[in-house]
Amino acid sequence: MQRPMFGLVHDLTHVCAHDCITEMVLSRHKPHNQPDIYAQYQSIRKHVEQLTTQQIQEIIADNELLMGTEQYPNLLQTDAGEIIKFFYPKNRLSTSTIFPKAKVFADNGVLLRKLQVIAPLTKRVAYCAPRKMYLVVYDRIPGKDLRMWDAEENGVALQGLEKYLAELHRKGVMFRGIHLGNVLMDDTGEYALVDISGLSFKSKPLSLWRRKRNLINLLGVEDDQKILLSYGLSRFVAGYCAAAGLDKSDIAYLNKKLSRRLGQEIDALSPLGLQ
Ligand SMILES: Nc1ncnc2c1ncn2[C@@H]1O[C@H](COP(=O)(O)OP(=O)(O)OP(=O)(O)O)[C@@H](O)[C@H]1O
Ligand SMILES: [Mg+2]
Repeated sequence: MQRPMFGLVHDLTHVCAHDCITEMVLSRHKPHNQPDIYAQYQSIRKHVEQLTTQQIQEIIADNELLMGTEQYPNLLQTDAGEIIKFFYPKNRLSTSTIFPKAKVFADNGVLLRKLQVIAPLTKRVAYCAPRKMYLVVYDRIPGKDLRMWDAEENGVALQGLEKYLAELHRKGVMFRGIHLGNVLMDDTGEYALVDISGLSFKSKPLSLWRRKRNLINLLGVEDDQKILLSYGLSRFVAGYCAAAGLDKSDIAYLNKKLSRRLGQEIDALSPLGLQ
């Protein structure tokens, strides 16, 4: 049952707390070499448009539904090729009450851009209080996600991903929401991330512990098991370790921890893993 007082607290914290805390986080990451992006982003982030139910209905009616239902759309596409992504905050206090996912998504897009990682750069953030939904608008990025690549060209999806993941980790990016549907690749082999609300940043390369956590995030995804297993988990981990420049003791640590967590024998030091 909806509690009005809770609703008020929820909306207020959405507006205030996130801004204060994010401001502190961003001041650490403030880009010096890209003031234009930062300035543009600041104005977008600070201005969450308030939409009425009528306006939301018009947005849904005027754009192509890509995912979700008309009542609860997930993704829409505009005639101009933009994507509109929706977020539905939970009806209970959680971290997303203080850090609304739509705003985190917008923040992460700018931080990733600063690190030269291609990802959606949010042009608009809006909230509809009566429908309790957020939306963000961003441009479609060229390419297809790695699940689509695998469906079209079996075996191609994971080939460059080991190196790309090692590069993200070198830049201090931990994409907790990583799966093969959230990584895009274009025809030239350039990678991009989408669905970027579940990310964290470090100002130095990720520790071995975080690398392990993130490999578990990726290699443990149920929906991608067929693709991952046919490529070979040991092969993937070996490719990742080589790209990340990990030494033998680090690789032995990953072998042990990943094997235990994934319930599969992983040996990235074996000739098979290094194939
Ligand atoms: N900017 C973009 N450019 C190109 N394709 C995109 C873009 N954003 C999303 N997509 C496509 O839409 C799909 C779904 O988008 P997204 O991952 O944001 O939605 P989702 O509902 O959160 O998906 P899931 O929960 O399954 O991860 C992606 O897998 C990708 O194929
Ligand atoms: Mg996704």
